Amino acid sequence: MIRIEKLNQKYGGTQILWDLDLDVEKGSCTCIMGRNGAGKTTLLKCLMGLLPASDGRILFGGKPIEGRAAQARAHLGIGYVPQGRDIFPLLTVEENLQIGLPARKDKARRIPQRIFELFPVLKDMLHRRGGDLSGGQQQQLAIGRALVIDPKVLILDEPNEGIQPNIVRQIGDVIRMLNEEDGLTVILVEQKLGFARRVGREFRLMQKGRIVAADQMAKLDDGLIRQYLAV
Ligand SMILES: Nc1ncnc2c1ncn2[C@@H]1O[C@H](COP(=O)(O)OP(=O)(O)OP(=O)(O)O)[C@@H](O)[C@H]1O
Ligand SMILES: [Mg+2]
Repeated sequence: MIRIEKLNQKYGGTQILWDLDLDVEKGSCTCIMGRNGAGKTTLLKCLMGLLPASDGRILFGGKPIEGRAAQARAHLGIGYVPQGRDIFPLLTVEENLQIGLPARKDKARRIPQRIFELFPVLKDMLHRRGGDLSGGQQQQLAIGRALVIDPKVLILDEPNEGIQPNIVRQIGDVIRMLNEEDGLTVILVEQKLGFARRVGREFRLMQKGRIVAADQMAKLDDGLIRQYLAV
């Protein structure tokens, strides 16, 4: 579904991603892991078109998208939940969710009910300002907002940073449900091993801007953890 070939990215003179290859199959739930600064967010931003790549190819459903603007990639069906959430604090929950509607293929004007089934709290807080929600609620809103476009792929960048355990569990359950029941392809950047193991079905390990290991989640063993994840 998504294929990245020989992606390179530089911030000024510093190269961050090096000839990076990544393959994500339709229906998979892939967890991208690696230490702070490994380049995980940079990779996602290149995939979303929020950062220009120096060179390389990005294919979505077999078609190259590396030349397309971020908005066009969203229209194709790539939903993105950025690190740090980035909701609009002064807009209401409803307005935050409505922002995605124009990107829907069917031009539906209503927020899909499925989002409120997954996150009932968003329905209860529809008219509150985004900035007045707790961190966990804001994260649920950010995921809801990405789902409004009815994406084919959902990409989440560390959705559990700074969130209390019971909401982390709920978010994990929702990601599993979306993947297993709705057939949504998921790419999850995650540093917490427990969550990655519970939610991810495959892993990719990143180090210094490269993918250094890839396998089924069950094969993520202590040796790999020590080498690429332990701090
Ligand atoms: N805007 C920027 N300008 C210059 N360098 C940057 C910029 N953003 C990130 N970097 C550098 O690029 C490297 C990769 O950063 P990135 O945010 O992709 O890592 P990450 O794996 O997502 O880390 P974390 O786990 O902390 O979120 C880091 O060395 C970082 O300092
Ligand atoms: Mg990051």
